[in-house]
Amino acid sequence: MISRSTIDRVFESARVEEVIGEFVQLKKAGSNFKGLSPFADEKSPSFMVSPVKQIWKDFSTGKGGNAISFLMEHEHYTYPEAIKWLAKKYNIEIEETEQTSEEKEQMNERESMFLVSNFAKEYFHNQMLNTNQGKAVGLSYFKERGFREETIKKFDLGYCLDEWDNFTKAALTKGYKLKYLASTGLTIVKENKQFDRFKGRVVFPIHSMSGRVLGFGGRILKADKKAAKYLNSPESDIYHKSKILYGIYQAKKEIAKQDNCFLVEGYTDVISFHQSGIENVVASSGTALTSDQIRLVNRLTKNITVLFDGDAAGIRASIRGIDLILEQGMNVKVVQFPDGEDPDSFAKAHSDVELKEYLENSAQDFINFKVSLLLKDAANDPVKKAGLIRDIVTSISKIPDSIQREVYVQECSRIMEISERVLFSELAQIISKTNKDEAKKHQSEKKTLEVVKKQEIQVKEVDQLSILEKEIIRLLLLYGNDEVDFTEEIVNIDEDSKEIVTTRKYQNTVSAEIYLHLHDDEIEFTNPIFQEIYNEIIHQLNQFEKLEIDKLVNHKNDIISSTVTSILMDEEKHQLSNWESKNIFVKESVEVLFKAVNDVVFNLRRILIDRLVKERLNSEKEYSNAEKEEIMNYNSLRIRLFEKLNRVV
Ligand code: CTP
Ligand code: MN
Repeated sequence: MISRSTIDRVFESARVEEVIGEFVQLKKAGSNFKGLSPFADEKSPSFMVSPVKQIWKDFSTGKGGNAISFLMEHEHYTYPEAIKWLAKKYNIEIEETEQTSEEKEQMNERESMFLVSNFAKEYFHNQMLNTNQGKAVGLSYFKERGFREETIKKFDLGYCLDEWDNFTKAALTKGYKLKYLASTGLTIVKENKQFDRFKGRVVFPIHSMSGRVLGFGGRILKADKKAAKYLNSPESDIYHKSKILYGIYQAKKEIAKQDNCFLVEGYTDVISFHQSGIENVVASSGTALTSDQIRLVNRLTKNITVLFDGDAAGIRASIRGIDLILEQGMNVKVVQFPDGEDPDSFAKAHSDVELKEYLENSAQDFINFKVSLLLKDAANDPVKKAGLIRDIVTSISKIPDSIQREVYVQECSRIMEISERVLFSELAQIISKTNKDEAKKHQSEKKTLEVVKKQEIQVKEVDQLSILEKEIIRLLLLYGNDEVDFTEEIVNIDEDSKEIVTTRKYQNTVSAEIYLHLHDDEIEFTNPIFQEIYNEIIHQLNQFEKLEIDKLVNHKNDIISSTVTSILMDEEKHQLSNWESKNIFVKESVEVLFKAVNDVVFNLRRILIDRLVKERLNSEKEYSNAEKEEIMNYNSLRIRLFEKLNRVV
């Protein structure tokens, strides 16, 4: 582990504008810098860096954060990788914290496995390029398949000589231990004999997201019915087939940039696509897709396009796996290749432009694709059709977003000629069943359309609250330490039971004022991120008596840091179009601040009270007198708040 003090020194030294300047051309704009977004293709700049706040924001994709998060987004580094990169740039020596001997040993083992795999990659590659057999057999195989030299380099393709232990001997001579040759599966050890797993095969190294070699796929060259076409590295401490996608390292940048990822089956499909100019492509390596693999892509984009070979048999088996993609809230499209073609053969038989056009024109929304595919099967068979409805609706139920679900239901109702009502009720059933199965905590709900509709109303209410909560956080971040004059109304009842309202003026900081209001009412935020940011702010106020925004911008929880950055940078957005010079944007003045704080707090209260009243009124419970009185009180409080909102000017 990198020591705390190294991380602190990295944070002290790193300047966000210098780091980003290595990747993006930045131009001065007011107190900030602007440039073209590195995450999207654009002609006018929407990317902004604030040297004062030490943060950046990309208005075209909504991304933003500090220097570290830029490296994580742009280079797809992990946190430690980003720290290491910065340490190198700023000449900071990296101090590692002490590890237990067990940790050290484990780390060393994995490290040794990485090292020997890297050696193997280089060895196989060089043998292919520099030996007679390598050139005559390995290299000429790839050449025959149309792979260009730069492609062979890009994917580190290689060849393992057709001798029993040529590679193993070379590795041992270089000082690599047999133990790691065996644990990576590069060498097969049997009764004291050792031989090369990939003997006589061309090899495809499999890289991690950050480019380390984890394992290999080895393809046989002769047509041999008894031997497997591909032989792969076995599962090991560094290679988990279900957690990696072939080509992710070479594709990651382009996936993020294109905001889409093509998913194919084979190594050669990936490589052919690269040669045809399509680099946002990864392969599942012929097995069923896993959630871990989808998560890898999900870090880079929300959009996946699954490419199916021409043979129809495989498709029905694979579409099940696609529900896993929907579950992660990703959008799925499907492209089917003509009969007998796979992405590799299609790319070879067509020009780059034709391939691009084919992908664009034949991409179909997954749900629609599934419906039409299954409809063909179920034609004129009512029993099958019933099963089909359940199948489709199950897929739809995996989509986390309720609005998107509703759109699909409408669409399917049209294509399948079944009423929306039936589909919605099926959907409600499946959702409530999944809820029950997963977390038996929720009591079973009425399985009707109303359930679904009601959920949506709640979502809207939550959104309203979320907007107010965000506004509170915004005021705290921007003006938390500002002193403002506040006015308070004090209501007294005189002898004739008449209300006498007097006002009192007092000074307070914006943060203390907000805290007092929310604390009085024991208000909790519905949005967990805003709640967490709020807690941090309050914690700071208690500890340091003022707000330290740096600590939030550089927060270890990247959701907090990116949310804070986003809110801060929205204030700077005007500089992108030179508004500042025209003076259109003005900072909120002190008088406006008083109103802003009051507005947001009262509005928040109003919604919460509204909700309480509604809950009580809708429930079919018999109320005691005390409870009835409580509801009445709420109601009058609600009216009072409405009045106040109008009165506060
Ligand atoms: N695969 C495997 N073991 C096999 C067959 C296939 O691991 N015995 C995996 C490989 O990752 C392969 C993918 O499944 O890339 C797809 O299989 P296939 O379409 O048969 O291979 P291609 O990649 O198309 O290879 P080629 O074009 O050389 O036939
Ligand atoms: Mn294939």
